[in-house]
Amino acid sequence: MKDQIEAIQNEALSRIAQAADTRALDDARVVVLGKKGTLTEISSGMRDIPKEEKASIGALLNSARTAITEALEAKQLALQDIADKQALEGIDSTLPSRALHHGSLHPLTLIRHQAINILRRMGFALAEGPEIEDEFHCFDALNTPADHPARNEKDTFYFDSGKLLRTHTSSVQVRSMESQAPPVRIIAPGSAYRRDEIDATHLSVFNQLEGLYIDTDVSLGDLKGTLEYFFQEMFGSGTEVRFRPHFFPFTEPSFEIDVKLHAKGQAPRWIEVAGCGMVDPAVFAAISASRKDGAYDPEKVTGFAFGMGLDRLAMIRWGIKDIRLLIENDARFLKQFA
Ligand code: PHE
Repeated sequence: MKDQIEAIQNEALSRIAQAADTRALDDARVVVLGKKGTLTEISSGMRDIPKEEKASIGALLNSARTAITEALEAKQLALQDIADKQALEGIDSTLPSRALHHGSLHPLTLIRHQAINILRRMGFALAEGPEIEDEFHCFDALNTPADHPARNEKDTFYFDSGKLLRTHTSSVQVRSMESQAPPVRIIAPGSAYRRDEIDATHLSVFNQLEGLYIDTDVSLGDLKGTLEYFFQEMFGSGTEVRFRPHFFPFTEPSFEIDVKLHAKGQAPRWIEVAGCGMVDPAVFAAISASRKDGAYDPEKVTGFAFGMGLDRLAMIRWGIKDIRLLIENDARFLKQFA
């Protein structure tokens, strides 16, 4: 039996040594160690071995198995090594690699992140609302009467259901006040939709960022200070900003904010970037009517709101002449922001 074991081991080791590829190596393994392998079969003969020889034969079997297994593993590694070398043959690893093209964030994404960062530092939290809105949240609760021109079919995209694509992010003001009691300090970036004629400063889908600040003693000074600080942070301390009296149904007094645009090859010009004002008590009355808890009693709370056009901010930030560049996805334009 001892001779047999030795013969099996020798035979196996020489097969392993001769194996030229992993398939031959696997065949060699099956022949000895497989279910019907030579070593497996001889091992099953152990039960017929007389007691006094069991220990020495068992030890011999074990050492044969170990030697064969180790040889198999070593050969496997050696074959792998050869395969790796072959795979690399003909490849010049000293050649410089091809340039990788880095992607980058779209200017609108960059400007949104920047605006959010500035306002979050001032204590505003992010809020959101649906882009498919109802007339209550987009208009009625914002003191906008049924015959207001903004509600016209010519200005607003309506669905047959009567719902609409929100014309501004101001609807998020209403949703925020419905869901939380004052103090409120939120910003809501998002898309807004209007049936505008598309030109160098207008798109029918554009990006706004709404802000709302409600507490018991918010003043017009807070509004001006907050927005002036915002624009200086955004565009630098020398930035020219002006507040023009305006009308919005949901704020009183109301202003439009212009910032000087210095576009390449053009004379500097004012461009309207935001609307703002002190929240009209009629809005608090509408919220109070739907909340029924007196949290927004127009006698007790005051606040300001603003809505800015992020596309316009991007134009000012980088001196972009035409808003359409922001949606055309021309790589020559976008590359400049990488
Ligand atoms: N919703 C206004 C617009 O889209 C902007 C605005 C927001 C004005 C908040 C006042 C207060 O033009």
